[in-house]
Amino acid sequence: MRDDGADGADGAGKARGTGAARPGAWDPEVPDPLDDDDFPTEREKITLADVAGMEKVKERINAAFLMPMRNEELRKAFSKSLRGGLLLYGPPGCGKTYIARAIAGEMGARFLYVSVADILDGKSSRNVQALFRQARQYSPCVVFMDELDAMGGRRGNMASWLRPVVTQLLTELDSVEDDNEGVFFLAATNHPWDIDSALKRPGRLDRMLFVPPPDAEARASIVGMELKERPSSDIDARKIAKHTDGFSGADISHLVESAAERALLESARAGRVRPIVMDDFRAVLGELRPSTGPWMETARNMVEFGSADGAYDELAAYIRSNRSRR
Ligand SMILES: Nc1ncnc2c1ncn2[C@@H]1O[C@H](COP(=O)(O)OP(=O)(O)O)[C@@H](O)[C@H]1O
Ligand SMILES: [Mg+2]
Repeated sequence: MRDDGADGADGAGKARGTGAARPGAWDPEVPDPLDDDDFPTEREKITLADVAGMEKVKERINAAFLMPMRNEELRKAFSKSLRGGLLLYGPPGCGKTYIARAIAGEMGARFLYVSVADILDGKSSRNVQALFRQARQYSPCVVFMDELDAMGGRRGNMASWLRPVVTQLLTELDSVEDDNEGVFFLAATNHPWDIDSALKRPGRLDRMLFVPPPDAEARASIVGMELKERPSSDIDARKIAKHTDGFSGADISHLVESAAERALLESARAGRVRPIVMDDFRAVLGELRPSTGPWMETARNMVEFGSADGAYDELAAYIRSNRSRR
């Protein structure tokens, strides 16, 4: 909080001196994003190899970003078809952010990550502008905007202060199409149907990629990954996978954590390490519910009663094949 005491005027003057104070600004100490490179290019340790299952998703990402990034000739040859962007969508907790981090791990500095909620402040439009300016300097480069739903509502019923932000984003995307070879746009949302349709036009977020709940194989490997650094004995990951249909990746992580907690508690009581066993999973499985149900319900309605422009074909196919499996 700013101090309104005797030194208030002094403080404001100082802030003005640094050029950081803006009307309504919260904290004069926060640096202006236009001053330096500060959409940090994260140093991620995970790569796509750490993403369990999701073969189709990985294939698309490879073809859309990684291959052309690594091969300049290919990038030039296909530059036209590589323009525009890719929107990852799917139920919460199923790996959109995780996959983005993995792509960052694959690409190093050529990946700019920003969570939309983080750039929504008094100068959001300038943040968007700065983000793309930085991306053009780093080209070839991927700009990733996570949790796009935070600004993605239809402009018609969007808060008035948000509209210029979306407009700025459209401007930047179009300029990417005009004169910015090698800037690729990637975004993620749980609510693709709420994204302003202007954002989905050609050259913008014109391709969609469904990130489904993990299938049995992916669930088994997430269990394996989560157990790697924990003491366990005689775990049948396939069996756990069989009993966790509809669980998101995050649900599975939580499941393993709960099982670990149970073993830990008992270890503490006994005074020696008792590894995690199947019984722990049995006990906690009785208490946990899969979280993807409500999202799939909404998705089903959207596919059945929403616009039939083919945007959700992948999702529709997934819903169909899951229904016939049951
Ligand atoms: N395919 C996967 N492989 C490994 N871990 C996964 C996978 N999908 C999800 N997870 C785990 O679930 C967590 C939540 O996923 P996250 O990417 O945050 O979901 P989303 O962004 O789609 O809401 C991740 O941090 C990761 O630990
Ligand atoms: Mg996320």
